[in-house]
Amino acid sequence: MARFTSSMLEQIRLINIATIIEPYVELRSRGRDLWGLCPFHDEKSPSFKVDSEKGFFKCFGCDAKGDGITFIMHRLGFSYQDAVIYLAEKYGINIEYDGEENSHSKDIISLHDEIQKISRKLFYTSAGEEARKYISDRSFNDDDFNEFGIGFLSGDVNYSTVYKMFPKDILYNSGFFKESKYGAPYARFFNRLMLPIKNVTGSIAAFAGRSLDGSNPKYLNSAESSVFHKGYTLFNIDKAKDAMKQSRNALIVEGYFDVMRLYKSGFKNAVAPMGTALTYEQIALLKRYAEEITVIFDGDSAGEKAAFRSLERFAESGLFPKVVFLPQTDDPDSYILNYGIDSFKSLYGKREDLFIHMIKRLALSAKNDFNIKLVRFKSVKDMLAKIENLHMKDYYIEAAADIFGLKKENIQEELAVNRYKKNAVVNKSVNKNLYLCEMDFMACLSHLPVDIVDGLLADMNLEMINNNEIKSILKKILEFLPKISDIKDITHELGEQFVELAMREIAEDSAYDEALKNKRQIELNYLKKRQSELIDLMRTTTDKTAQISILQELNNLTKLIAGKNKDGE
Ligand code: UTP
Ligand code: MN
Repeated sequence: MARFTSSMLEQIRLINIATIIEPYVELRSRGRDLWGLCPFHDEKSPSFKVDSEKGFFKCFGCDAKGDGITFIMHRLGFSYQDAVIYLAEKYGINIEYDGEENSHSKDIISLHDEIQKISRKLFYTSAGEEARKYISDRSFNDDDFNEFGIGFLSGDVNYSTVYKMFPKDILYNSGFFKESKYGAPYARFFNRLMLPIKNVTGSIAAFAGRSLDGSNPKYLNSAESSVFHKGYTLFNIDKAKDAMKQSRNALIVEGYFDVMRLYKSGFKNAVAPMGTALTYEQIALLKRYAEEITVIFDGDSAGEKAAFRSLERFAESGLFPKVVFLPQTDDPDSYILNYGIDSFKSLYGKREDLFIHMIKRLALSAKNDFNIKLVRFKSVKDMLAKIENLHMKDYYIEAAADIFGLKKENIQEELAVNRYKKNAVVNKSVNKNLYLCEMDFMACLSHLPVDIVDGLLADMNLEMINNNEIKSILKKILEFLPKISDIKDITHELGEQFVELAMREIAEDSAYDEALKNKRQIELNYLKKRQSELIDLMRTTTDKTAQISILQELNNLTKLIAGKNKDGE
């Protein structure tokens, strides 16, 4: 059966559910919600609640629940398809069917392809002469223009063909066009050198435009869209991933031009974030392809601070990077232009472990004053506490002990004592009921963009879920995920239990943090379950070798559990 497009379902969701229900039920407001007499069973006092913000209704008497579409299905006896069509016609929404892939995102990508054609064409016209001169002055040539699809958009581009090809919602949702106050689209970019930003598979997810005349901002990116989330995107990942797979190494730099310079000089494995600090998700993406990551920073104190700040994300990701610091005034682009690629290669050859570098810097800054040393050591200790992998932790404890001239055993004990203290507090506060955290996790997912949901579920084992209904909802979500752009698109497929969960009260602006917290708790519960199974097993086993292996697993589990508790602070 053909599916409705995500953008069509989104428009239906935008109709206030109260206006859908009102013709059938008299609603009165109580608090944030609306209440009325349930149309699905006989009642004298209202137990039918409508939550306009979330877009769901629920009857506390007969347990009927759902979204606007479900309401029409129940009330008018329609099938799902008919209910959607009925609402679309009633509210003047175009009826659109989807192909295999999600057409909304596909359309945005085709729109980007059209813009890319225009930008490439203009680059080679007389209007693009300035842009061409600019970039060849920066020592890039025709091959580079082609490799990176470098283009130009002037201030007077005629987008009429694009306007004809795509509906308005695609124009505005693409993050490329804005809506003027007269309701007409206009481009976010003008008079800029254009760089397409591609996703892992090489589709254009967004654009970056560099100003040519010194006007601000120097770089402008497309707004976020269903195909572009800054924190998940890395410039050049499409090309770099193959080079990373071969060398097992990845390079992270700050700027787009740095990436292009490195690429052209033979470092095809370089990527850059979108002008923001590196995220956990970006590191996770790189870890798919590379075993070693090198970050390159300016050698000034700002560069060093930025490097240290990035460490925390790496510690959480379980992979510490190497670092190269460049001379104060240089970025990789200017360094290679000034000193040549061989000089850069020799710096790269001397890359250092960033955490060790930080430990050394902190120890050095204490200038042999023992008290200051202990103060400085605190940041090292905090970082050590974030490391989950025990071998890795041990490695850095040893290094820190050596560099700071402290006893390894004392550091270990200090970390253990702190963890014990914190666990005592954390255990009490987060020891949520098994199902509660699964329910909250589901509730959070229902309010998050699909690619974030994808990220959250990617490394999760469904066996960790105790509640069978939640488990089957998650299974369905995973099945549909590649085809949808919003989980609420499949409310119908996920059923009433999903609506029930989606209506749970959660702090919406921190749905991601809440989801993470609950995910951690689910993992923790799972580990604890295994722990108690093992303890039972230990009691009944008499075989010595079996006992030893149980003890070993128990020991590992205890450490993992302590690590998870630590994360939950
Ligand atoms: P830099 O200001 O260091 O610029 O920004 P750059 O990369 O050296 O650029 P060129 O060489 O002058 O062309 C580093 C990165 O920060 C983001 C961009 O991703 C840029 O590559 N940035 C910078 C923005 O997003 N907006 C800005 O206005 C400036
Ligand atoms: Mn630069």
